[in-house]
Amino acid sequence: MSAPSFTPRVFSGIQPSGGLTLGNYLGALKRFVDMQDQGTHETVYCMVDLHAITTWQDPEDLRRNTRELCAGFIASGIDPERSILFNQSQVPEHAQLGWIFNCVARMGWMGRMTQWKDKAGKNAENASLGLFGYPALMAADILIYHATHVPVGEDQKQHLELTRDIAAKFNHDYKTDFFPITEPVIEGAATRVMSLRDGSKKMSKSDPSDASRINMTDDADAIAKKIRKAKTDPEPLPDSVEGLGDRPEARNLVNIYAALTDQTVEQVMTEVAGQQFGQFKPRLAEVAVAKLAPIGSEMARLMNDPAEIDRILARGSERAREITAPILARTYEIVGMVK
Ligand code: TRP
Repeated sequence: MSAPSFTPRVFSGIQPSGGLTLGNYLGALKRFVDMQDQGTHETVYCMVDLHAITTWQDPEDLRRNTRELCAGFIASGIDPERSILFNQSQVPEHAQLGWIFNCVARMGWMGRMTQWKDKAGKNAENASLGLFGYPALMAADILIYHATHVPVGEDQKQHLELTRDIAAKFNHDYKTDFFPITEPVIEGAATRVMSLRDGSKKMSKSDPSDASRINMTDDADAIAKKIRKAKTDPEPLPDSVEGLGDRPEARNLVNIYAALTDQTVEQVMTEVAGQQFGQFKPRLAEVAVAKLAPIGSEMARLMNDPAEIDRILARGSERAREITAPILARTYEIVGMVK
């Protein structure tokens, strides 16, 4: 049997569960924009509000964070005409296919997910059932579009492998080749942006120290100050990538610089070899302010008109459903649901 060919289509999602950081921008948004601008794939981007509520979200916060995330997508360069941009809950086929996949995925697969183990911790008894099933809904997000490529950070790799396992088991159990085996796209210098205070921890919106992260809503002064104060070691920068090996803080700043200037880390090393941080940090701050400050102010401008944001999301979910409705209908048919 020859494999069916699928339309080249990119899908990815971000949880509206807090403010956006430089980590979200470099690890996700900027790469989403690049894929949109390449024009070789359809691009579908989603605010995964159903995923967000797998841990408690105050309803007002969730509403504000969803709109702010939408503003962040647009301010970063996502064009809601060229890409499909929407929030997950408004396209019911995500949850509907998610249910089917709850019945395909195995408890053992879910129990092995490191994100589940980290998030549920010792208190798994008290975690929501939704948190346990999170990866099955994520598989549905992707496969309800027959997406062929999914840009994500390093930490989502295991979930994408599970997505492939779910597609393969569905295809096998129902003797079909309906779902594609999706390719993860994990590349670039900054698929993992680390804390500015501790190079061994991921930059996170939930870190108690605001100095550990750059928020996309920080103004130019705040951005420059956080970079100036970022933790480093006393050595000058090395002349090769290998020289960054056991220097997590130095490596993080170089990665950020590479991603912001669209260079490889190797290219950056030839530029910065031998520099002291006193020289490198102001240069990094300059580049970061030039890129990020305009995005922050555009986000603030968009947030002044929430009705316009809601219209953009509503239009996006209408366009999304043109793809998802027929794929769900066909899935139901394959599974044996009588219509
Ligand atoms: N789990 C992803 C994260 O936390 C978010 C997400 C949900 C996602 N559904 C997705 C990412 C589908 C890619 C594709 O980053």
